[in-house]
Amino acid sequence: MKTIVITGATSGIGLETVRILTRQGFNILGIGHSNENCDKAEKDILSVNRNAKVTYFWGDLMQQREVLRVADEISAYLNKNCHGELYALINNAGCVRSWYMTTEEGYEQQFALNYLAGFMLTHELFPLLQKAKGRVIMTGSESHKGIKVHWDDVMLRRGYNPLTAYKQSKLCDILFAKGLNDRYAASGIHAYIVDPGLVNTDIGNKKTGILVNFVWALRKRHGVSPTVPAKTFAFLCEQKDAPQGLYYCRCKENAYSKQVTSENANRLFALSEQLCGIHYEVGYAR
Ligand SMILES: NC(=O)c1ccc[n+]([C@@H]2O[C@H](COP(=O)([O-])OP(=O)(O)OC[C@H]3O[C@@H](n4cnc5c(N)ncnc54)[C@H](OP(=O)(O)O)[C@@H]3O)[C@@H](O)[C@H]2O)c1
Repeated sequence: MKTIVITGATSGIGLETVRILTRQGFNILGIGHSNENCDKAEKDILSVNRNAKVTYFWGDLMQQREVLRVADEISAYLNKNCHGELYALINNAGCVRSWYMTTEEGYEQQFALNYLAGFMLTHELFPLLQKAKGRVIMTGSESHKGIKVHWDDVMLRRGYNPLTAYKQSKLCDILFAKGLNDRYAASGIHAYIVDPGLVNTDIGNKKTGILVNFVWALRKRHGVSPTVPAKTFAFLCEQKDAPQGLYYCRCKENAYSKQVTSENANRLFALSEQLCGIHYEVGYAR
């Protein structure tokens, strides 16, 4: 049985993706923020599908020590139960903020969770992904378009704008997927972005101020059901031969920003390695 790890698996797009993937017979390791929400999600999945193979792990992925702890727990599980093989990793956990907030490392929270946590978790699980010639899928967003990475102030400490920080974190997700493909596609690891479109979830109503809360409450009503993007994740997981595109929306390849170049991807890789204190093994350059 193929195993898939998915972060942000307790609500919205992530939870719906767990529902679909368990129905398809995948073994799912979901990661959530709190023990309580993980329990709730697991019960929810099992109440409609008693045969679902799902196990939850919890941790605050904004904090690097927590990424390392959860990665250790998952690696131990995979080594014990799945021959040390990970078929896919879906880095989906995300947040919206209204003002400048930082992690224990002093990193801006949207950058830390929406992008850097996935960069670090992928690194920690990489040997298991390599063993399975696995897939890495990041949850992106249309909003990455029309923005550049602020290389001289990536945390946006000077003149913070929360929307810019969100958009930049999503551009970084695509650059990471591009960087992974540049380095490792020749060795069988493939990375993708899923652009969910506008989706009716509570992301803008968690830990946000009154204005963002209000605007998102109105905006999300125009969003599609989380089932729509969940089908795209399922599409990328179920294809026998790894799809060759990078950016997918509604199960089809889509256009992405011209900022997504190998040069920018390399630059971000180097910066992120520094910020996480890790180093990806050199892969096979294309
Ligand atoms: N909704 C949209 O229109 C839209 C559009 C484009 C992209 N996206 C992206 O889609 C992804 C999923 O968002 P969603 O809309 O489904 O929102 P959501 O329902 O709020 O899901 C976010 C998930 O991330 C988890 N999470 C939050 N903070 C965390 C932390 N510190 N550590 C670990 N996990 C944490 C949440 O856990 P809890 O359940 O405990 O809060 C939840 O499971 C995000 O990356 C978002 O940027 C969403």
